[in-house]
Amino acid sequence: MERPNLEHLKSAFLAMEPPNCFISLARSCGGGYITPEVQTFILDIICNGYVRSGAVSNSSYVRNLLKKVIVDAESTTSDDAVAVVDGLYEQFAHYMTLPAEDDLLKEENRIYKQISFLYPNGFHDVSSGARSLVVSLQCSLNLLEGDTGCAIWPSSLFLSEFILSHPAIFSNKFCFEVGSGVGLVGTCLAYVGASKVILTDGDISSLANMTSNLELNCLGSGTKAKTKTSPDMIQCKHLPWEFATESELQGCQPDIILGADVIYDPLCLPHLIQVLSILLKTKKHVPEETNDATNKSRNNYIPCNDQMKETPVAYIAQVIRNYETFNYFLKLAEEADLCIVDITETKRPPDFLPYMLSYDRSSVHLYRLSFSK
Ligand SMILES: C[S@@+](CC[C@H](N)C(=O)[O-])C[C@H]1O[C@@H](n2cnc3c(N)ncnc32)[C@H](O)[C@@H]1O
Repeated sequence: MERPNLEHLKSAFLAMEPPNCFISLARSCGGGYITPEVQTFILDIICNGYVRSGAVSNSSYVRNLLKKVIVDAESTTSDDAVAVVDGLYEQFAHYMTLPAEDDLLKEENRIYKQISFLYPNGFHDVSSGARSLVVSLQCSLNLLEGDTGCAIWPSSLFLSEFILSHPAIFSNKFCFEVGSGVGLVGTCLAYVGASKVILTDGDISSLANMTSNLELNCLGSGTKAKTKTSPDMIQCKHLPWEFATESELQGCQPDIILGADVIYDPLCLPHLIQVLSILLKTKKHVPEETNDATNKSRNNYIPCNDQMKETPVAYIAQVIRNYETFNYFLKLAEEADLCIVDITETKRPPDFLPYMLSYDRSSVHLYRLSFSK
């Protein structure tokens, strides 16, 4: 197996990968051990700016990581094998004296993760030539806070990889996401140049968290992700599926609807299907002028022998944790005349997150939904 490069270790650190995953990656970088070279690199990423710049503000995470690196290196130290780099002990001692930040964290319960999408070899962002996209996300330490919408779920990573690997499907399209959570998918849509992005969530605290993430990446000055969509075309909206009205949804008329990990609560599914079916059944008004830029791009609508030039499609990424719940979703979709195609294999995106050992890409399915009549 090819050794991951040290830059992967930096990305894993910034994404706050679980310490055990970080240690596995560090060992792979060193060819089976956390060699002094790898330890020095870890020291460098921890000491030189990445922590102090606020990218990783959780000192208990760093302390835990340092401890595991030291224990791992000590356990492999023998006469002529790996030695522990002194600076690691010094840094560990330093982090042992930093309780105040953690007290603050207990109150705030917030962390910042930076998700680095690394374009695989042979792939790059055609318009900018960029080799990576880094998205900064404020998340909660409590997985269930904000009705699950303040954490990053694997389906949104998969859907983001799909968007980045098929930019032509989304650029110059009006994209509308349901259950957007932290706003990762929306940032990727803005990055590939969707003409308009509406992100929605039914949970108020998720919505507030999402809005600050969009500020950070797409809307504020000096934003990191360098998105192509104009800031005034990006919106975060409160949309609980139970209370969304037909006229409100019909007025939206998006080209593409997206959702990541939204199929899990049987009580919400009839409402979710109702929202999806209204959005999917509403035909988009196409402007008359043939020289209209949006119209031109719509003629290229989905370059994969697609016959639905004027009707919207939906892309839903989902980890199926409970088949009964998922089958219920399929039944409701069929009753609503929605056609669902599993495109996981045919459209599987390449791996943009090779450093993220905690992310099980194989668990995610990708579905394409359309109105079948
Ligand atoms: C498991 S999280 C997924 C979040 C995000 N899409 C991701 O993959 O990281 C489910 C999201 O759906 C939202 N949600 C759940 N039920 C909802 C409802 N009835 N109406 C609107 N949003 C809802 C939650 O607030 C949460 O943000």
